[in-house]
Amino acid sequence: MASTFVIFGASGDLTSRKLIPSLYELFRKKKLPEKTCIVGFSRTEFSHDAWRDALAETTAKFASETFDRDIWQEFAKLIYYHPGDISNAEDFRNLSTFLEEIESGKQAARVYYLSTAPRFYEQAVQALGASGLAREQGAPRRLVVEKPFGTDLETAKRLNEVLHQVFEERQVYRIDHYLGKETVQNLLVLRFANAIFEPIWNRTYIDHVQITVAEEVKVGRRGDYYDTSGILRDMFQNHLLQLVMITAMEAPLRFEADAVRNEKVKVLDAIRPLSREQIAHQTLRGQYEGYRDEPGVDANSQTSTFAVVRLCVDNWRWQGVPFYLRSGKAMSCRTTQIVIQFREPPHMMFRQPTCGTPGANRLVIQVQPAEGIQLHFQTKVPDEGMQLRWTDLDFSYHREFSGTVPQAYERLLHDTLSGDASLFARADEVELSWGIIDPILRTWREIDVPKLLVYPPGEWGPSESTTWMHQQQREWFDACPVLH
Ligand code: BG6
Repeated sequence: MASTFVIFGASGDLTSRKLIPSLYELFRKKKLPEKTCIVGFSRTEFSHDAWRDALAETTAKFASETFDRDIWQEFAKLIYYHPGDISNAEDFRNLSTFLEEIESGKQAARVYYLSTAPRFYEQAVQALGASGLAREQGAPRRLVVEKPFGTDLETAKRLNEVLHQVFEERQVYRIDHYLGKETVQNLLVLRFANAIFEPIWNRTYIDHVQITVAEEVKVGRRGDYYDTSGILRDMFQNHLLQLVMITAMEAPLRFEADAVRNEKVKVLDAIRPLSREQIAHQTLRGQYEGYRDEPGVDANSQTSTFAVVRLCVDNWRWQGVPFYLRSGKAMSCRTTQIVIQFREPPHMMFRQPTCGTPGANRLVIQVQPAEGIQLHFQTKVPDEGMQLRWTDLDFSYHREFSGTVPQAYERLLHDTLSGDASLFARADEVELSWGIIDPILRTWREIDVPKLLVYPPGEWGPSESTTWMHQQQREWFDACPVLH
């Protein structure tokens, strides 16, 4: 069956930076379904050709390594533009006629991608319903919703309700681009396609888990958005909790949307709710120096650009194993890593354990940018008696697989076109994750604990975060990845 990919909010940044370059890549790799059309819808007036030309320029920039004029010319034939306003019912009726025209009246699977400002989501969904565009009649209709999905539990629930008035849950694809990352999917493979990790992936062998998403960049031109969002909404509710779920979940029976998501949801369900008292001690928040001078940011802003949250997963596998989640802007370097810190050997018979470093193994999953996995383990230094030293088994994507690691959006867009929702968040998943984040946001706002700490850009957040970890006899794995 043919496919039509409709982008609402087509003149926005996401379309030119991610969506079109990813669709172009799929076309170049011959992974786009046959007879695919791509239609942009937004208020700006463009002719088909003017839009194609504008996209040629931006794609040449954002897919610079693989951009090829001849391939682009072929790809551009699939692209159309239809001007319209989300608040105008007539424009949706016209869009419907236009889609039927380019599909030559034949059945086509359609993907409607909401890439507008989030405040237009409800209106767009209602208009899709009212104009009959959501009706399936033998051909699938799928809706893709970009983040942020609500700003708290209440708004997320409301948005789910509106979506479900028009679409069934199986038709809804809530994007979290972290799930499109190769290394995140590889964590599923590491855990569930190898038998050696499962026996040690639990409280008996693991002391704690650290998940860090550090960014070197500051908020830049996104001050307006960021100042009303902050690090918990921007990174924790979605990306960090997704990483927790993939790390902690039980093995699904099959790699199928509901089997995978059922297991993920159980992890969120098992996360122990934090009382105000616990939030005061088990979370940290910070703001980088100079944040208040960024364009669009309030001069007295209390918004956090850094946070740490310690969570416990109350089930048999993870009882007593803390999950430390940490993320920040303006940090030392860009790195996303999941550290599985194992317990120390019960008895050390060698008299010279390595000085200073904790005597326990560590598995580091480098999600980006130095995609790979390292297992740190003790070895004997040759010719030095029984002196030991830490060394690594080191797997690097770039060494092992030539070529670049594909963009997360490539995989996700492919899955929306082929109807595989395994790597998308389900309604209950987003609601449960807001249920974890909301009380923290509320406590920070209402009783102002813990205090907002100020940190200098270019470090690992406030120094208090290091002290806090030491008080728990643990240490952050503060290492910038080595790019091969
Ligand atoms: C986005 C956030 O969802 O993820 C941004 O809104 C953040 O603030 C980005 O920079 C990080 O994504 P990645 O893929 O670069 O880690």
